[in-house]
Amino acid sequence: MAMLRVANCPSQDLALTNAAFVNAADDAFVPYAELGDLVLFVKPHPDVERGCVALNGVQRKLLRVSTGDALRCEPFTPPATQFDAAGMTLELEFTKLRAAADLNAAGRHEQVDAVQLAAILKRTFASQVFTVGQKAAVEYCGNNFLFTVNSVLVAGVQPGVTSLRALLTPATSFVFEAAHNSAIKISNQKTSTVNSNLFKTKEFSFEKLGIGGLDAQFENIFRRAFSSRVFPKSVVQRLGIQHVKGMLLHGPPGTGKTLIARQIGKMLNGKEPKIVNGPEVMSKYVGQSEENVRALFADAEAEYKAKGDDSDLHIIIFDEIDAVCKARGSTNSGTGVHDSIVNQLLTKIDGVDALNNILLIGMTNRRDMLDEAILRPGRLEVHIEIGLPDEAGRMQILKIHSSKMSENEFLGKDVNIADLARRTKNFSGAEIEGLVKSAVSFALARQVDFQNLSAMEIDEDNVKVQAADFERALGEVQPAFGASTGTFERCRLNGIISPGARFEKLHHTCRALVEQVRVSEKTPMLTCLLEGSAGSGKTALAATLAIGSEVSFMKL
Ligand SMILES: Nc1ncnc2c1ncn2[C@@H]1O[C@H](COP(=O)(O)OP(=O)(O)OP(=O)(O)O)[C@@H](O)[C@H]1O
Ligand SMILES: [Mg+2]
Repeated sequence: MAMLRVANCPSQDLALTNAAFVNAADDAFVPYAELGDLVLFVKPHPDVERGCVALNGVQRKLLRVSTGDALRCEPFTPPATQFDAAGMTLELEFTKLRAAADLNAAGRHEQVDAVQLAAILKRTFASQVFTVGQKAAVEYCGNNFLFTVNSVLVAGVQPGVTSLRALLTPATSFVFEAAHNSAIKISNQKTSTVNSNLFKTKEFSFEKLGIGGLDAQFENIFRRAFSSRVFPKSVVQRLGIQHVKGMLLHGPPGTGKTLIARQIGKMLNGKEPKIVNGPEVMSKYVGQSEENVRALFADAEAEYKAKGDDSDLHIIIFDEIDAVCKARGSTNSGTGVHDSIVNQLLTKIDGVDALNNILLIGMTNRRDMLDEAILRPGRLEVHIEIGLPDEAGRMQILKIHSSKMSENEFLGKDVNIADLARRTKNFSGAEIEGLVKSAVSFALARQVDFQNLSAMEIDEDNVKVQAADFERALGEVQPAFGASTGTFERCRLNGIISPGARFEKLHHTCRALVEQVRVSEKTPMLTCLLEGSAGSGKTALAATLAIGSEVSFMKL
């Protein structure tokens, strides 16, 4: 083990080589040395004193040392196999933040040719070892750029597995990504590469975001709205497709639509989505509502004018869109405000000078109230139903809302989440949250002496939410949607008695119909009329079918 003193790099030109320099007497560290997390290429230089290692500013910043500090340094021998970099992804930015800010302010950008830059990198940094997270400066056409190694792919290692560090060779290929707001545009990049930095993390977990039971819907949202935007323009052009510019999330109240709106921004890189709420946009002053809608699109419009198809994606989330997009002519307020707002929205997404850089996501629990025109292809064309959660979904939601208390050991051991999920049929996400809150309130109430609120002593460690609390909560919180099985039970008070073979056959046929709707994708809807004289048991049969059906939405 050796400690070397950190010195400054002998010259600016040498700083750009990304090598470290030592005195010829310290040649044990030549050609590679491990310093902190990094492996650097080391060369002897006469201007460096014995016992010193000269590092440039970027390296010192990465290693968190200043000149004069002692730094641990070990000779490094590159592994003989599986160490050549097959590919690297590098993120580019200007070394001087001012440069980017000035260009951005002027609405301009610096063009970087991917093929030329790759050639420079190979010439300058051949045989250097790069570690993920490492940064280095490179000169391209008179500008200094800083690149960050985002990932490396080592030749010979199973494809798809990324490694921590690798040797840059003449065979290494590069994928460049411009950092957000960097005012850099990369051209001439092979079209097979994807614009992978639209999303923050490559795999996100909805459970971590606190959204339960909506994985399938999310997959749909992302496939329909974002997959075409991840690919470079050239691919999309060759496929001859148009990006989806609008989508509608609809479903009963409390199923998590607003929650999705709040969380979508956390999954995406770059611009925060604009979230507005229908009633908020409406104004009682003449023209103000239209102005509000116009303002919503102003940023997207400005950027589209300046950058055209290279503009970033602007996401506008319109919660409770039914408040503004009521069917035209349906309101008799006489002002025509709704009509002109609908028209305004339509021109932005589908008009003559429509914007191509926006995604409008509308949310509503009253899809039937919306103007048909706004739901047509090219407009809010993708409709995704956010329905009541199924059993697995309810389980996830219960876990999300009880995770804090279970982490902190406030959740009793006798609470069976799976059992609760089974018994909360027809509950929406919000109602499940309400159920948990109610159970907690029962647990807390046990600690409180309501007769004597002033002399209260709370024993924090003894607060435990137990199965019995959830039992009482189940009695208190009732699902608003679909009749609960109780209502149906009342329709066949003593169960159902089979009067004979004809009834059996009928019952069997009806069950088959229910099963068909439940299982098959092709028949989402079936209607059936039970006909018979008064008191023959039509309602009782229907109730029996409903109770046995396992579907989570029933209405009587
Ligand atoms: N799928 C879910 N996962 C986790 N929590 C949920 C889920 N659905 C609802 N909730 C809880 O219920 C609350 C209310 O839901 P939210 O406001 O998103 O419903 P909504 O669909 O927008 O209803 P509305 O149609 O009435 O506007 C959320 O803040 C969240 O705590
Ligand atoms: Mg809502």
